[in-house]
Amino acid sequence: MKIQNIESIHEAARSFVDAMGQARVFAFYGSMGAGKTTFIKAVCQELGVSDVITSPTFAIVNEYQSDTTGSLIYHFDFYRIKKLEEVYDMGYEDYFYSGAVCFIEWPELIEDLLPEDAVRVTIKAETDGSRTLDF
Ligand SMILES: Nc1ncnc2c1ncn2[C@@H]1O[C@H](COP(=O)(O)OP(=O)(O)O)[C@@H](O)[C@H]1O
Ligand SMILES: [Mg+2]
Repeated sequence: MKIQNIESIHEAARSFVDAMGQARVFAFYGSMGAGKTTFIKAVCQELGVSDVITSPTFAIVNEYQSDTTGSLIYHFDFYRIKKLEEVYDMGYEDYFYSGAVCFIEWPELIEDLLPEDAVRVTIKAETDGSRTLDF
């Protein structure tokens, strides 16, 4: 999927939501600045989240709630973890296997802990500023 510019992100997020199906855990791969947080935020808005959504910069996980369905959504950023022990200690399994939708930034840092059926999404910033999204 191509996201030509920031204005078309909601349309792209809508298409993503339509394609989510029954999958629950989504691992977003992409370098710093690729647009992971921005896209996850747009997808959460499409899912009915209206809270101010920020990147979970200081917490490993942020929790959002959809106004339309009441469902919880978990947004992880593993960028700052230093040891896998921190991930065990936060009780990652309770989230990943909760049945709630989970969006994960920097999944490569916890690759072995990802559920087998996690959907892998890659985001790449192109030189013209557009983003390419594959899943
Ligand atoms: N689809 C897009 N089109 C244009 N700019 C974007 C897009 N997605 C993100 N950006 C911009 O790129 C920068 C980094 O985005 P961010 O989502 O924080 O990246 P990441 O979480 O991958 O590090 C932000 O300034 C954001 O506005
Ligand atoms: Mg980010």
